[in-house]
Order: sequence, then C-alpha cells, then structure tokens
Amino acid sequence: MKHTDDKNDYMASYWMPFTPNRAFKETPRLYKSAEGLYYKTTDDRKILDGFSGLWCSNLGHCHPKITEAIQNQAAKLDYSTAFNFGHEGAFELANVIAPQFPETLEHVFFTNSGSEAVDTALKMALAYHRINGEGTRTRLIGRVNGYHGVGFGGISVGGMVNNRKFFGSLLTGVDHMPFPYNAEKDAFTRGEPDTDPMEYLSELEQMIKLHDASTIAAVIVEPMIGSAGMFLSPKGYLKKLREITEKHGILLIFDEVITAFGRLGKANAATYFGVTPDICTMAKGINNAAVPMGAAIASKKIYDTFLDGTKAGVEFFHGYTYSAHPLAVAAGLAAQEIYKEEGIYDKVTSNAKYFEDGIHSLKGSPHITDIRNIGLAGGLTIAQRDGVVGARAYDFFLKAYEHGVALRPNGDTIAIAPILTSEPKNLDPIFDALQKAANEIN
Ligand SMILES: Cc1ncc(COP(=O)(O)O)c(C=O)c1O
Repeated sequence: MKHTDDKNDYMASYWMPFTPNRAFKETPRLYKSAEGLYYKTTDDRKILDGFSGLWCSNLGHCHPKITEAIQNQAAKLDYSTAFNFGHEGAFELANVIAPQFPETLEHVFFTNSGSEAVDTALKMALAYHRINGEGTRTRLIGRVNGYHGVGFGGISVGGMVNNRKFFGSLLTGVDHMPFPYNAEKDAFTRGEPDTDPMEYLSELEQMIKLHDASTIAAVIVEPMIGSAGMFLSPKGYLKKLREITEKHGILLIFDEVITAFGRLGKANAATYFGVTPDICTMAKGINNAAVPMGAAIASKKIYDTFLDGTKAGVEFFHGYTYSAHPLAVAAGLAAQEIYKEEGIYDKVTSNAKYFEDGIHSLKGSPHITDIRNIGLAGGLTIAQRDGVVGARAYDFFLKAYEHGVALRPNGDTIAIAPILTSEPKNLDPIFDALQKAANEIN
C-alpha cells in the first residue's frame, strides 16, 4: 500500500518543483482556495498574496470574468490542435497582444510556459539566421545570474549556477555577460542605478571581438532581473545593449515572462524602457496564469524571413500539442479585456511610488543589506547567517508567512510582487510583515 493516513506518506508521491521536499513535507503550507488578493489555507488562514502567485496572478485570484470564460470555453471547444487547424480565439488573442508591443514586433507564437517561450525564441533566432544565409551565427549570449526557465535552452543561456551545474554540458557555444548590478555601489537605489552601463557592456564588446559577430545569433536578457532577486541594470543599459547588438547584426531577445502585462506599469518592459528588441517572450500575466500559457512575439523582419525563405510547407519546425489551447486562449482574452477595462497599467504607475516608499522604509532594519524596486516589484537582500547561503532569507520568508503574507525567497534575497489590483491599503500589510520578519528572525 503506497498511501497511509500518515501525513508524510500521503505527501510522498508528489515530487515538488523548486522546493525543499523534505522540509516542506515536515511542515506543509497548503492552499485550498483563493479569491482576489488572498489565499485560504487548509487550516483556514487567510494569506495575502505578496507575490502574485509566482509573478503571474496579476489581476488577483479567481477573477470571475476569467473563470466564466474558461468554463464557457470548456463546454464549447475543449481542444483543437494548432497544427494545420485553428480556432478563432487564437487569432483574436494574437491581435490583442501584438499592438501592445513596440511597433515592429508583430507575430505571436503561442507556447504553454515561459520556459517554452524562451526555447521558442532561441530557436527562432537560430533558424532566422540560417534561412537568412548566415548559418554561422549559432552562438547565444545570456547573462550571469539570468533566469530563462528550465528547458535546456533556457538553462544554457541562464546564469544561475544551481540551475545549470547538475545538468551536463548544456548547449554549446553559449557565453554570459556580467551581472549588471554591484551591491557595493548600488545598494538601496530607488529604480535603476546611475552606474555607467559600459562598466558591464564593454565585456559584451570583448566577446563580440573574440568570437566575431558572424558567429553570434542572439543576446537574451531579462529587462528586469526577476528570479535572481529583483535587480535592475543601470540607466541606459538596455538602450546601449540594443545599439551594440544592432550594429553587429545580433538579434536581441527580451525575456518578458514576468514583465509583460503590467508589472512595470506598461504593457511590457520594452515599452517601459523605450527599447525595441527583435523578439520578446511572455507568459504568466498573459492570461493571469489561470491556464498554462506563454508566447514569443517576433518582428516582422523575422516572420517575413521564415515565410519568404520557404517555398512550400512548414516554415518553422516547432510547436506544441497545447499551443494556443482553447482554455488558455479564453483566459487570455478575458484577462486582456480586464487589463484594459480596469486600467491596470495606469493603476500600477500611480501606486508605484507608494510601493517604493513602503519598501524603502525598511532601510536600517535588522539583516536587510539592500532594497530595490521598480513598478510593483521589489527585492531585498538578507545578510547571510554564519556564511550559509539562503538560510536567513528562508527564515525571513517563513516568518512573513507566519504573519500572513506569501513572498518569494531565492538564495539571500526576498522578492515582492503584489497583485497589480492592490490599493495602497493592501500594500501596508506587506510592509508590516516584512518589518516584523526582519525584527523577529535571528
Ligand atoms: C524571466 C523568466 N523566464 C522564464 C521563466 C520560466 O517560466 P515557466 O516557469 O513558465 O516555464 C520565468 C519564470 O519565472 C522567468 O521569470
């Protein structure tokens, strides 16, 4: 018999992702329902969601319009293959998404996750160059501490050591630019640091000299660094990166899995920073995460190259059984309508200063060695205890949960990403829990 009434046995079969399984199963945190800004636990505690699920439930949980759209769709068309067939919603959703990105980004390819969106973007870049007669452009460049999901493409261009070191030699021909943040100089900066971006980007120029531009397909970055703990590159960094890549015919990919759809107060970070890459990934907020979905949007130049370069048949040998799944699309159409109707992006912009002041008011609190923010995203660095990476930050996370707020620990950092519909009065309990956590842990 595999399962008994014993709590730990009951939990044994499920191998949990990115979770210390042993510790979790000793002291589980189980949600049974959610509504708006709150989760309800199995022991009937109300938990304020200070992380929008996982940077994804931007519009709050179980939004009635999204729930209704999914229910209706499930009863009407539960599944349709996206290979050689379509359904109207998929075209409609692409038409709603594309105009929200900078003008030259026009064509949306649907996936089921951020990781798949990243792999799709990397494959688009490689195939684009090959079809364009530049098949020598096979190198990819990411960044130290970058997070681009967990596919082999994503972990190859990603730069978080634990996500890479267990998994063999990964993709070949990948290089990494330096992490563009220096806590010694930039700690407690509000928004983007003032450092000269060339302090970090001159290394990219060196890489281009070393490998020669003719071997480099694409550079991929998170325009706001999320999973490493919410960090920002310096003012002007992304513009300069665009200039350098463009000069050398290298495609620029923004991984917007957590920034697309409102986190910074705009539809996406490309718009916020005024920089147009060649491809953007997205996921999560695209449909409020109510059904798994991701996408990559490519420039007209890329799409036309694929179509013009293929005489007949399939132009891009890539796609997923669940690409543009009708339920994900229905949730997407509903979510996109809500972003617009409820003026969510402007709401984020108007609450961003309150959020900034709130989290920076923690400066001087025990153990907090850095505070960062942009839009409705924040990051703290928590001093290590006895040189052990992450131990104190994990205690901080547990203490905040004890005080009724769910956050995200990663290494020595805590990230905060309130649901975008939050009013200032809903942000106060987050600041309060952060303060109590800092005061109460040792
Ligand atoms: C920038 C970025 N890219 C990719 C991903 C991977 O997304 P998923 O977990 O949906 O595969 C994430 C997830 O947080 C992310 O933050």
